[in-house]
Amino acid sequence: MPAARRSRAYPELDSVLITEAEIRRRVRQLGQQIRRDYAGEPITVIAIINGAILFVSDLMREIDNPMRLDCIRISSYRNKTKSSGRPRVIQSLTLDVRDRHVLLIDDILDTGKTLALVSRLVRKLRPASLRVCVLLDKKGRREVPFEADYVGFSIPNKFVVGYGLDFAERYRNLPCIGVLRPDLQVAGA
Ligand code: IMP
Ligand code: MG
Repeated sequence: MPAARRSRAYPELDSVLITEAEIRRRVRQLGQQIRRDYAGEPITVIAIINGAILFVSDLMREIDNPMRLDCIRISSYRNKTKSSGRPRVIQSLTLDVRDRHVLLIDDILDTGKTLALVSRLVRKLRPASLRVCVLLDKKGRREVPFEADYVGFSIPNKFVVGYGLDFAERYRNLPCIGVLRPDLQVAGA
């Protein structure tokens, strides 16, 4: 992981962990790796929304396999920086994934509860294969054992925002990923 930098450009951030250029470069590499691994096979992408939206939209454009996209919405943090118990499915899949190669994509792997839940759910639908891709991995925070097949960056145990990741639905539109200032980590700030 790149060294943290303080930034004048993003006053809401304590530091920038990953710049826009670094994200772009890594997304391109992940796309190449996925393209190689799937060797022209059709892929059904499942994005866990809202967090994965920016990552998925950029990553999809790096993969020229025949592709279908579906989204699943999982309950969120609700103005907190710590996961509150069990995640729930708020909005379910619409595509049939049976006998399809499914690539499940999320913004960040933290306690592992969200991806463990969604993977279990997808496996029940009998896909031909299931792989998981995350942009960020906070390895130190796992509460249930879970490893992704593709990881963009391993990051320390800090609450981060930007490039799709939010705090209380804000900051998703920052082009980089950074550590949110502690004084802004309160509801309504
Ligand atoms: P998990 O179920 O604890 O692995 O959490 C996964 C979800 O929590 C992700 O999809 C994110 O939406 C959210 N999350 C975890 N860590 C962060 C963070 O540092 N910033 C913003 N959202 C996070
Ligand atoms: Mg999320």
